[in-house]
Amino acid sequence: MRVLAWNGELTQFGGDVLAIGRFDGEAPSPAEKKLDAALGGALGAAAERLRFKGKARQRVSVTASDKLATSHVVLIGLGKKSECSPAILRDMPALAIEVALAERYPTVGLVPPQTGLDVVEQMALGATLGAYRYYDLLSEPEDGPRAALEAVSILTDEDADATLVRAAGVAEAVCLGRTLINEPANICTPERLEGVAREIASAPGFELTVFGRPEIEAKGLGGIEAVSRGAANPPRFIHLKYVPEGHDGSDPIALVGKGLTFDSGGLSIKPAKSMFEMYIDMGGSAAVLGTMRAVATLQPKVAIHAIVGACENMTGSHAYRPGDVITIYGGKTVEVLNTDAEGRLVLADALEYAAELKPSAVIDLATLTGACVVGLGPNYGGTFSDDEPLAERFLAAAKVADERFWRLPLDQKLGETLKSKRADVANIGGPWGGAITAALFLQRFKGDTPWVHLDIAGAVLASKDDGYIRTGGTGFGIMTLFRLLEDLSQ
Ligand code: BES
Ligand code: MN
Ligand code: ZN
Repeated sequence: MRVLAWNGELTQFGGDVLAIGRFDGEAPSPAEKKLDAALGGALGAAAERLRFKGKARQRVSVTASDKLATSHVVLIGLGKKSECSPAILRDMPALAIEVALAERYPTVGLVPPQTGLDVVEQMALGATLGAYRYYDLLSEPEDGPRAALEAVSILTDEDADATLVRAAGVAEAVCLGRTLINEPANICTPERLEGVAREIASAPGFELTVFGRPEIEAKGLGGIEAVSRGAANPPRFIHLKYVPEGHDGSDPIALVGKGLTFDSGGLSIKPAKSMFEMYIDMGGSAAVLGTMRAVATLQPKVAIHAIVGACENMTGSHAYRPGDVITIYGGKTVEVLNTDAEGRLVLADALEYAAELKPSAVIDLATLTGACVVGLGPNYGGTFSDDEPLAERFLAAAKVADERFWRLPLDQKLGETLKSKRADVANIGGPWGGAITAALFLQRFKGDTPWVHLDIAGAVLASKDDGYIRTGGTGFGIMTLFRLLEDLSQ
């Protein structure tokens, strides 16, 4: 599916479905009036009949017969103008595409509700993200509606070339993140994540280092070593380095991702109803690799280290045990009280490894705790930071990207519950504030580097279609991370 700019007379748009928006309580725009006039008032009449007010997601669809060059006109509610956000602008194309796919029409035109390339950009993002479907595992994929969609044209008289290139780079990165999450654990193995990193590393400016089990053991990456021991699929510790052309590599940013391709809980095994979805437990690494895909395409002027600890947490005679004491990369010891608190052990290695690279900031993403989902619900990413300027910068990027992150406290007092009698620290805390104790655990391994920890356990997966967000993997975090990297570019 291609996203194009189209600069022509509205009534001459020759695609199949032409979509136009209206804000809640506002009068029809000049463009809507023009279309309605060409249709002999049919659009206005249908809107009235259906009590269309412009509420977000309201939709009116009329056939144009031979009155316009297009076959269908769709009027889409955008909600209150004062509440218009990038997400609303991304939803509009997605809702138009739903109509086109239902009718098996291959081409869509979009009339932006406001001028400006930033509006065009969000609509372009929404088109690609709204058209995303994961059909790879269906036996008749060619019959799927995605095959029907060929092009989405955004009507604009501005020069949108650079805008569309950026939007495509970011949207395709989010789609990669979504696909990695959607792929089941028998397909998305640690080796599969290595393959994706390898593909990304073929772009200019990249250098890839991958450790398998022998190197993991030799280097003393004791967290991933222990967690992966029960699995037949071998672990991969992935370090993807990017230095843009003409850049001296100074002030690199480190991105760290939890890459549990499956989390059974290990010997502290999960009940079936919370285990079957644990193929999404590599959502943090999907966000990191997705972001690096956008970096490969768009080449921002900032040096980056992307680090992914990829493995499976399984049971069996080789598995690590509750009560084991393990040694994280760099020497700190951890008493394993629960083998299901495995992500933090893998991340501890990765954070220690990242600190050695002397980055100016480290950001980790992880589907770390069910407690975070209980606290914030499934639409927000929990956000922890020990550095105010970095936290503010991160949250500003999240606002621009319009992804929902919410700051939670690093309550040092609660950290006392991580005390162990047998090791430097235990891998679980007390019964309260599970997302916070997990963050406090990670804080011990990140060194002096300004740090942001993102617990995305809830937001990686959507349970229903909702505008540009489609059922399944969301690619949550990628738009924000890329925006932050652009902000840090020099
Ligand atoms: N991968 C899970 C967290 C998770 C839960 C992700 C729900 C997505 C949805 C993590 O490894 C885990 O099992 N965490 C435990 C920690 C506990 C043992 C301290 C949890 O949240 O129950
Ligand atoms: Mn777990
Ligand atoms: Zn996990």
